[in-house]
Amino acid sequence: MSSASAAAAFTPEVERSTRPIWERVRHVIPEVEWPVHAPLIAAINELKRTRGAVILAHNYQTPEIAWGVADFRGDSLALAQQGAATEAGVIVLCGVRFMAETAKIMSPEKTVLLPDLEAGCSLAASITGADVRRLKAQHPGVPVVCYVNAYADVRAEADICCTSANAVKVVESLGSDRVIFIPDGYLGRYVASKTSVEVILWEGACEVHERFTPQELREYRRLQPGVHVMAHPECPPEVLREADYVGSTSGMIRHIANERPRQVVLITECSMSDNVAVEFPEVEFVRPCNLCPHMKRITLPKILESLQTLHPAIEVPADVAARARRSLERMLAVGRASVTT
Ligand code: 13P
Ligand code: SF4
Repeated sequence: MSSASAAAAFTPEVERSTRPIWERVRHVIPEVEWPVHAPLIAAINELKRTRGAVILAHNYQTPEIAWGVADFRGDSLALAQQGAATEAGVIVLCGVRFMAETAKIMSPEKTVLLPDLEAGCSLAASITGADVRRLKAQHPGVPVVCYVNAYADVRAEADICCTSANAVKVVESLGSDRVIFIPDGYLGRYVASKTSVEVILWEGACEVHERFTPQELREYRRLQPGVHVMAHPECPPEVLREADYVGSTSGMIRHIANERPRQVVLITECSMSDNVAVEFPEVEFVRPCNLCPHMKRITLPKILESLQTLHPAIEVPADVAARARRSLERMLAVGRASVTT
């Protein structure tokens, strides 16, 4: 029996200590699952304290992770900012590998744990450092803007990074009339539609967001008249044209907080609706369920084991990290802004 499953007894003490969490998540987690999650949540939270660790979770993590053990939930930009700012010596990144690399690049002296090293990303896998060098040779002098959904060696070749929350602002900050935008072709097209800067595209795509279709969105509106449709800019342009709001995952949360729509459909990864529903129990969510198989590799037993063993830890070669840090720091200096503002 692994030490993670040995921790899994739903004792009265565990039931008592996790009750406030259960009260918060009970409308998004089936009751039969709680006796499985609760002992792991209690063990992780205890070990987190003794290890002096902080747990950062992306908005696409399952609610037992996002609300059960995470100290901080957010979009890619917010996780990058938190990773740079935290004082904790150990960061457990509940997300995918490029996010853990960001945390390591910003805090090389810290131990950054990614509970499953296989948690990848179709966008990050779509491009290599050699591809970027070829693009730069084809377009000499044109600055490279790299969406953070890319690995460190690719970001090291870029002039500046961006996330979906600040992509337009970053592109415009360069004062150039042309930019090379990698690796998300759909986000690149969305940026191009919001600026007069010419955008040279790389045709990477998110395997989750590219599956949505405009017909599907029209069908939600037909079945639920008045539903507020919110889409992530990693979706194809014909999908974004059908949406009432386009923005990053945290942009969607802010928009719901401001507008308080009665009924919402989030055109993004499946767990997002569960996590937002915890925050806004009065909002009704229509739930399409496109799962990110990479995000879903992170589970409570793997988080516990990772904290017990301090493995697997992310490493980024120092020379690559130094160059990638420059492009991340340039992005963080540009500051935060929604793509829709
Ligand atoms: P944001 O949380 O930055 O919107 O990114 C979405 C995403 O697909 C991350 O992998
Ligand atoms: Fe990558 Fe898409 Fe998964 Fe985000 S949701 S990690 S962009 S595959």
